Amino acid sequence: ASANIGVVGLAVMGSNLARNLASREGNTVAIFNRSYEKTRTLLDEHPEAEFVPASTYEEFAASLSKPRTAIIMVKAGRPTDAVIDSLIEVFEPGDIIVDGGNAYFPDTIRREKAVRETGINFVGAGISGGEEGALRGPSIMPGGSDESWVTLGPILKSIAAVAEGEPCVTHVGHDGAGHFVKMVHNGIEYADMQLIAEAYDLIRRATGKTPAEIAEIFAEWNRGELESYLIEITAEVLRQVDAETGKPLVDIILDQAGAKGTGAWTVQTALSLGVPVSGIAEATFARSLSSHPEQRAVAAHLPGPDATGVVDDPDAFIEDVRLALYASKIVAYSQGFDEIRAGAAEYDWNIDLGAISKIWRGGCIIRAQFLNRIADAYAETPDLPVLMSAPYFAEAFTRSQEAWRRVVTAAANAGIPAPAFSSSLSYYDGIRADRLPAALVQGQRDFFGAHTYKRIDKEGTFHTLWSGDRTEIEAVDTH
Ligand code: 6PG
Repeated sequence: ASANIGVVGLAVMGSNLARNLASREGNTVAIFNRSYEKTRTLLDEHPEAEFVPASTYEEFAASLSKPRTAIIMVKAGRPTDAVIDSLIEVFEPGDIIVDGGNAYFPDTIRREKAVRETGINFVGAGISGGEEGALRGPSIMPGGSDESWVTLGPILKSIAAVAEGEPCVTHVGHDGAGHFVKMVHNGIEYADMQLIAEAYDLIRRATGKTPAEIAEIFAEWNRGELESYLIEITAEVLRQVDAETGKPLVDIILDQAGAKGTGAWTVQTALSLGVPVSGIAEATFARSLSSHPEQRAVAAHLPGPDATGVVDDPDAFIEDVRLALYASKIVAYSQGFDEIRAGAAEYDWNIDLGAISKIWRGGCIIRAQFLNRIADAYAETPDLPVLMSAPYFAEAFTRSQEAWRRVVTAAANAGIPAPAFSSSLSYYDGIRADRLPAALVQGQRDFFGAHTYKRIDKEGTFHTLWSGDRTEIEAVDTH
């Protein structure tokens, strides 16, 4: 037994993670893939890395020192279950199986429980940063037991990205907590991407600027408070010219966005938890809307204004869009952290929200300067009920809310869809409202279903005899 860590599944993410592990002082990496060909390729292409290859699970287990620790990097779902079953056969109590894929957190909870019965530790770990991150330093969100963290912590710290001197990994919480947090990370990723896409679309259609010109605007924004990986790569994508046609590549790419499911999971989970993640939901739905060409074709003749070049002062509009993007982004992150807080309460996870914001500062897809502001907010008030209410963000809204309203108004007037911008603004106005029309909804519910209501001026639960003499009676609370 000579390896301290193993990787199972050597597709791009697994290979890159294995190379990352092997490149760090103190690690010797056992590698295994279902077909030996991929193992062979990795060995041939990277002679610099000291791998211990295995061609069977038995060999793989024998090459690992105890407690054996293996990271699974295979497709979520059945392939993951199959590998877990095989590892259980050859591992012993105290060993650690880590699932580094994008697993659905209820699956992780189920697997952790089942594997724990064998005495083996199971850790669901979210890993963000794409292929490049896996190789050079991802942001890692492990769940699982405290016992497994003792062994796993130093190994994961050795490969994680570093932000402000700190490794981008923390023990998120027990069982499925890591995959839950990774899921919400992806939901925020969806919202952030959609907001950026809306900003681009608004600027392009309302000012007539070219993708190359807008690339420069994003590059400029990336030097200010919007500084982030997603803004940076947006400029790169917009700058790209298609070799075949000589046109901007963004005009050649089919405008139907794909999705592998993590955004939808975030929204589904939020619905069950009763957490309004409207920005994430709009971003997820915007991808769905784009991906129905048959519907878009039959709706294309519906009337609307001509959106081209509708603004008088392009520079002022672009600055408004920047501010609206920043404000909407605060809402998206606030909603995402709200979901993590609610998930932690529901599943009994002790999640440090400030620590989450810190491990997202580097390595992951949503890495941004902005995460420091979130970390500051939670450092000041760890149990902050609404992230965006923190003083720094309140000040940002003071600066941006008028611009945000102008942008949403301009979008509506010009007929440019801005679902994430406008729903974020509605959320903002809803959460800060003194009174909401929810009172009327309660009245309606009581009218047709005797669902009862509470009063602002006294304790108790009430019902109006709507079909009788319309007097009010005390009632049993039926929500
Ligand atoms: C990451 C990414 C990664 C994956 C996305 C893509 O954090 O590194 O989130 O996990 O690339 O899940 O998701 P969609 O295909 O659904 O856009």
